Amino acid sequence: MANPPLLEVRGLQAGYGEAQVLWDVSITAERGSVVALVGANGAGKSTLLKTVSGLLRPRAGEIVFDGRSIAGIAPQQIVASGLSHVPEGRGLFSRMTVLENLQLGAYPAQVRARMDESLQRTYALFPRLRERSAQRAGLMSGGEQQMLAIGRAVMACPQLLILDEPSMGLGPLVVEEVFSLIRRLHDSGVTILLVEQNVQRALRMADRAFVLKTGRVVMQGTGPELLADEQIRKAYIGSLG
Ligand SMILES: Nc1ncnc2c1ncn2[C@@H]1O[C@H](COP(=O)(O)OP(=O)(O)OP(=O)(O)O)[C@@H](O)[C@H]1O
Ligand SMILES: [Mg+2]
Repeated sequence: MANPPLLEVRGLQAGYGEAQVLWDVSITAERGSVVALVGANGAGKSTLLKTVSGLLRPRAGEIVFDGRSIAGIAPQQIVASGLSHVPEGRGLFSRMTVLENLQLGAYPAQVRARMDESLQRTYALFPRLRERSAQRAGLMSGGEQQMLAIGRAVMACPQLLILDEPSMGLGPLVVEEVFSLIRRLHDSGVTILLVEQNVQRALRMADRAFVLKTGRVVMQGTGPELLADEQIRKAYIGSLG
């Protein structure tokens, strides 16, 4: 029998107050894969990621991570179980140093016990964070802040890393760096769930992709399948893409 997926979301409903945003959403992420989530502004991509990582409580549905139901449990416990989320807008503590931000990422007890090991591993992936470890996070460039946000998530030793628009607001060279970093993390065995405005890039690296439209999954396939799809190209990539 095939291995069960690392993440399985089934029939998820979620929203804010009176407003329901997600309707019966089901997605899966196989161990070791890259999964991309595609959709227009407001489609519910960030809402889905927030619900999976426990920042938003689901109204219905199941979220199974690494064989355990995590729907409705506290975000810190979800991080401790091996799922880290780099939110849209990064969520850094701008007046704290780079090192302090990284240390905060290592709060699950089993990681904290091996803080130095985790820190060295993170610095190996992000040499610039080592050079800037004493600098205030808020004084780093946009690209460095994005690296720090990813580095902080990596400090918790995730099996699944959720990235919400990691290349947002970054110049082309830095975008390359961010993508190469995501690739290295993936090569090191981390499963990736990615939302990215650069849909073409995301689909090129995706083993599987899901298209969200007004809170519903309307299409899914391998990255190359969706890349070749005329409707997808028109809606999310543009004719010259
Ligand atoms: N905290 C909130 N309170 C109320 N409504 C919200 C909140 N966050 C998002 N929404 C609404 O939920 C819907 C989905 O938003 P969401 O942020 O999930 O979309 P998205 O696909 O991530 O869009 P984008 O590509 O612009 O980031 C939108 O209609 C949005 O206005
Ligand atoms: Mg979003």
